[in-house]
Amino acid sequence: MGNVDTEAKISAKAQAVKSVKLGRFSFRRPVLLAPMSGVTDLPFRRIVVGFGADLVVTEMVASESFQKGDAEMALRSAGEGLSPHVVQLAGSEAHWMGEAARMAEANGADIIDINMGCPARRVTTGWSGAALMRDLDHAMTLVEATLAAVNVPVTLKMRLGWDKSSINAPELARRAESAGVQMITVHGRTRDQFYEGRADWSAIRAVRDVISVPLIANGDVSGFEDADAILDASGADGLMIGRGACGRPWLPAAVSRYLANGQRWAGPELSELVSLVVRHHAALVDHYGPVKGVLAARKHLGWYLDAYRDRLGGVMAGGDEAEFTRMRSELLRASDPNAIAEIIPAIFTLLSRSAGLSGASSEADQLRAAHCASAGKTTATELAEGDAACQTGRAA
Ligand SMILES: Cc1cc2nc3c(=O)[nH]c(=O)nc-3n(C[C@H](O)[C@H](O)[C@H](O)COP(=O)(O)O)c2cc1C
Repeated sequence: MGNVDTEAKISAKAQAVKSVKLGRFSFRRPVLLAPMSGVTDLPFRRIVVGFGADLVVTEMVASESFQKGDAEMALRSAGEGLSPHVVQLAGSEAHWMGEAARMAEANGADIIDINMGCPARRVTTGWSGAALMRDLDHAMTLVEATLAAVNVPVTLKMRLGWDKSSINAPELARRAESAGVQMITVHGRTRDQFYEGRADWSAIRAVRDVISVPLIANGDVSGFEDADAILDASGADGLMIGRGACGRPWLPAAVSRYLANGQRWAGPELSELVSLVVRHHAALVDHYGPVKGVLAARKHLGWYLDAYRDRLGGVMAGGDEAEFTRMRSELLRASDPNAIAEIIPAIFTLLSRSAGLSGASSEADQLRAAHCASAGKTTATELAEGDAACQTGRAA
């Protein structure tokens, strides 16, 4: 009965929520995958969307380099098969922001997001990212140039301010809204906090109080309770998840469904998880080529293992701990994609067996995993088909 009550309350709350409209797209309490350099490349975004996430954002794309034809920036901005395709631009000069936005739109971007939140020194010393919050007049020239260059919606992501003595997110958000920005995301930290301490969700409410365009709250959301808490504290219309989705690419979709109907989905079963990790690895190798692809995949492999271990409660039987450590290090050092594809099922099975789980790999699960893993889904379409098939359990 308690659960039924909770679900009824959640669904009443969900129905009272106003829709977030961005161009031809419309969402109820959107849950976004945060832009993360080195993480939210096209293979990862496709997987996150494959689970049903509302919106995913590219890694930040440096506007000037992108406009001048830099190959890495072109790869970062790619979004084939994604709709909506959100490209995040970073820069310090209005001219390059406008030119890059125009080019991104011509290449298929449905939404342009502007980065005023990145705290990295190499970004802020070039007066990009969060450094723009130190000079709002200048920041607004970038916003205006971007808006003037494109017909698609422009959104803006920022922190609370540069430091605690200069909290100016409300002022920047208000000015951006007046200029025509259609959605604002606020990470509840100042730049000088980098990623330390806890994000201040209630401080985001000061932005809510001065804008009427949709507000997205961000920072430290790693589960269902966090999602409720950040929305309550900030008054935001939706939320954005970054690090919480590392190793758990289903999380944005699971949180979105939770907000709509109160159901908590912990993630795929072992066999589907193994198949997902194998396919993610193959997609990275396809996207970057074998050498860079294997390197790019290592952090994801580590995250998948850590997240799965956490999910099992971190428990391992005696001698298995040493075996796990040995296999983990072998996996994260291996450079042959075929060898890696063989170690992945073995190490996840060890974790699951050691935690004493039974039934996680029923015969049907194993057959489904074997099909999806062995189908060698490496191209864009195959990957999308594989994702859908592996989630529904039907053969692709
Ligand atoms: C590895 C990493 C890379 C990031 N890259 C970007 C980026 O390219 N653009 C951006 O606006 N924010 C970037 N961020 C910040 C995230 O978008 C997000 O605001 C921050 O991680 C807080 O959310 P979280 O606690 O859910 O991770 C990055 C964060 C991380 C951890």
